[in-house]
Amino acid sequence: MSKPNIHPVPEAFKAQTLMDRDTYDRLYAQSINDPDSFWADRANEFLDWKTPWDTVSDWDFKEGRAAWFKGATLNVCYNCVDRHLPERANQTAIIWEGDEPDQDKHISYQELFEEVSKFGNVLKDRGVKKGDRVVIYMPMIPEAAYAMLACARIGAIHSVVFGGFSPEALKDRINDAGACAVITADEGVRGGKTVPLKINADKAMTGIDTVHTCITVKRTGGDVNWHGDRDVWYHEAIASASAECEPEWVEAEDALFTLYTSGSTGKPKGVVHTSAGYLLSAALTHKYVFDYHEGDIYWCTADVGWITGHSYIVYGPLANGATTLMFEGVPTYPDASRCWQVVDKHKVNIFYTAPTAIRALMGLGNEPVTKTSRATLKLLGTVGEPINPEAWEWYYKVVGESRCPIVDTWWQTETGAIMIAPLPGAVDLKPGSATLPMFGIEPVLMDPDGNELEGATSGNLAIKSSWPSQIRSVYGDHQRMIDTYFSAYKGYYFTGDGARRDEDGYFWITGRVDDVLNVSGHRLGTAEIESALVLHPSISEAAVVGYQHDVKGQGVYAYVSLMAGKEGSDELVKELRDLVTQEIGPIAKPDLIHFAPGLPKTRSGKIMRRILRKIAANELDSLGDTSTLADPGVVDQLIETRLNK
Ligand code: WT7
Repeated sequence: MSKPNIHPVPEAFKAQTLMDRDTYDRLYAQSINDPDSFWADRANEFLDWKTPWDTVSDWDFKEGRAAWFKGATLNVCYNCVDRHLPERANQTAIIWEGDEPDQDKHISYQELFEEVSKFGNVLKDRGVKKGDRVVIYMPMIPEAAYAMLACARIGAIHSVVFGGFSPEALKDRINDAGACAVITADEGVRGGKTVPLKINADKAMTGIDTVHTCITVKRTGGDVNWHGDRDVWYHEAIASASAECEPEWVEAEDALFTLYTSGSTGKPKGVVHTSAGYLLSAALTHKYVFDYHEGDIYWCTADVGWITGHSYIVYGPLANGATTLMFEGVPTYPDASRCWQVVDKHKVNIFYTAPTAIRALMGLGNEPVTKTSRATLKLLGTVGEPINPEAWEWYYKVVGESRCPIVDTWWQTETGAIMIAPLPGAVDLKPGSATLPMFGIEPVLMDPDGNELEGATSGNLAIKSSWPSQIRSVYGDHQRMIDTYFSAYKGYYFTGDGARRDEDGYFWITGRVDDVLNVSGHRLGTAEIESALVLHPSISEAAVVGYQHDVKGQGVYAYVSLMAGKEGSDELVKELRDLVTQEIGPIAKPDLIHFAPGLPKTRSGKIMRRILRKIAANELDSLGDTSTLADPGVVDQLIETRLNK
């Protein structure tokens, strides 16, 4: 392995940081040696409580059980909005930047308070109660944040579904959640194109009888269908709603939201996050990882449909009374300079995005970057997948002009908040490494027998002790949570990732060790894509693996075998890609479809994905033992017809 290029904390950054190395070391040690006192102090510092807790933490990973701040009550919306009013009523809470560069809007904390209160009353008027599930299927407009906060205000559990998911995928999630209400928009707009969200939502809701209310925000005025009793226009409902809506004081462990994410088997799981612990971790990490100072303008480019949008567009920043920028569009529209123009226009100080976006922009050259000022930028961040050192260095030198530290943040939907990342004023950076754990996080590397590994080595990444924002359950299937995360290594949370730890204790995440793909920072289960492919009448069997892709990180390589008498064709490739788009969404569309005469299987009939991954990667010398295959000849045929040459 070549020696990494170490970037020490820039002196100017060090001079103003919230957290130097000594403080990090001291607080980290306290957070591990005496977690309850550490977290009790942070809970008082970061959140306002209605009533105090009986116990700080109560957990047992052998049973997969965790609870934080039991006995306490609070309200998440109150913490993100109301309590800031005495000091920040006129401060901008949300800067909205529309798809077109001439569209933007500033929403103050006072306005946010009025909007969420009215929205809370609208939901209550429609009979939505504490504990009810509300699905939010929205574009990146302020109303998406209002909807989330309004649910939190009345104690309803939101489940945001990414606006890029298909009606089928939306339907599965509405059904699984047993949602009583859906909040959507007439259309979304991204990169100059519209997305028919309400029409999609109508398709999804067809045949579901739990949904009694659908609230639609008018974004474009585009065509919609209307269903008398069920459908309500947001602007009409809000017009007559009162702006007084007492927050529902919920238990610390009451669910705040569920968010669906893909695993190695079956349908996506509804990851359940609860109120107090989630908000505390989101707020604390937002402050220290982004070295957030009063008055900073902070921009996370994620979509609210993903956990990154939940924790680092909405909950973390607003809990800290920050100004958070919400961008409706895409980094390359109208041109490749857009992000940096937005940075200059709104004087952004902190910018947080995904490696796939950085690689795509890097591919378009320096000029779109260098023609902008970016003088306000202080800090850059990445999330979602490993960043290759080349992209890291480009981001550092060209975008940040070697002045801005980069925080590479490793975490997951299930962890709720950042787990491993450099505190930028404390930790020297190595491109490609997420570096060191956050307060209270104990990452360990495991060997295949379930023993912890010591020192500089590689292994499967697990977490040894509970943290406030950890997953509490899989909605409707608690056992599935235990099986997925708490069974591989008894007494540990298993992440599904592999990692290396170097001689400085820095972690280098190497990627998933299960059948989960990471395509452009989006997590996809191979099983889901396979289920979609075999719906096609010409396909008898499918096996999906990832392969290295220059921009997306991973691409989707699908091996499909045909029903007897059927033949592969360009037309069939198109049908299969359309089918996956219809069942899941465009993000899951296979890049390569290989018509396979047969798939390599063990004698007991299990598909050997290890071999399929090697063939897709063109690593033919390391196929491993193929002698246990039912029909070893299949492998030669696949190699001969391999795509991705
Ligand atoms: C998976 C989680 C919560 C972040 C957004 C994605 C991969 C995430 C990094 C990183 C290397 C990363 C992991 C993880 N991942 N961040 N900084 N370096 N890999 O959330 O959809 O739940 O996916 O994304 O493989 O397990 P997610």
